[in-house]
Amino acid sequence: MKTHHIVPCLLLAAAAFFTACGNETSTTPATSSDEAPAVDLSTPKADASQTIEITGNDQMKFSNTEITVTAGDEVVIEFKNVGTMPKAAMGHNLVVLVQGTDAVAFANKGVSHADSDYIAPDAKNAVIAATKILGPGESETLTFVAPSEPGEYPFVCTFPAHAAAGMRGIITVK
Ligand code: CO
Repeated sequence: MKTHHIVPCLLLAAAAFFTACGNETSTTPATSSDEAPAVDLSTPKADASQTIEITGNDQMKFSNTEITVTAGDEVVIEFKNVGTMPKAAMGHNLVVLVQGTDAVAFANKGVSHADSDYIAPDAKNAVIAATKILGPGESETLTFVAPSEPGEYPFVCTFPAHAAAGMRGIITVK
């Protein structure tokens, strides 16, 4: 028992509540420090930053399809469309999805939503982070906190037909 328990216990003893002393479930104020410190899982901490460069090209390929990040770290993805074809024919985005999302099915839902970067409004709850559709030579930096839950998180380009053609990858959170 730590010294700061002494005073409350004495007070309780004086009040004849002996059984409360040393009882961790006691409601005695300021005696909870024997317990493990509370960990607030609802507030991810950006402990460190990881910067990853990914490009997309006219062959509908990401330069990097397997990325590993640390849970809770800040992730910075610098995404660039290095192709030369017009945006209307060969635009690219990079969309990070929640674990378990079928990337091709997700992209297919967005095919008629050019005005929202080919992401269906009713599918946005599957999106962790997303760039807009980029034309040739354009780039966008995506910054987000890696999920706290380890696992495999898909990423995909939702420009029509690109996901099915293989423009997708996996971010492994460890
Ligand atoms: Co694409």
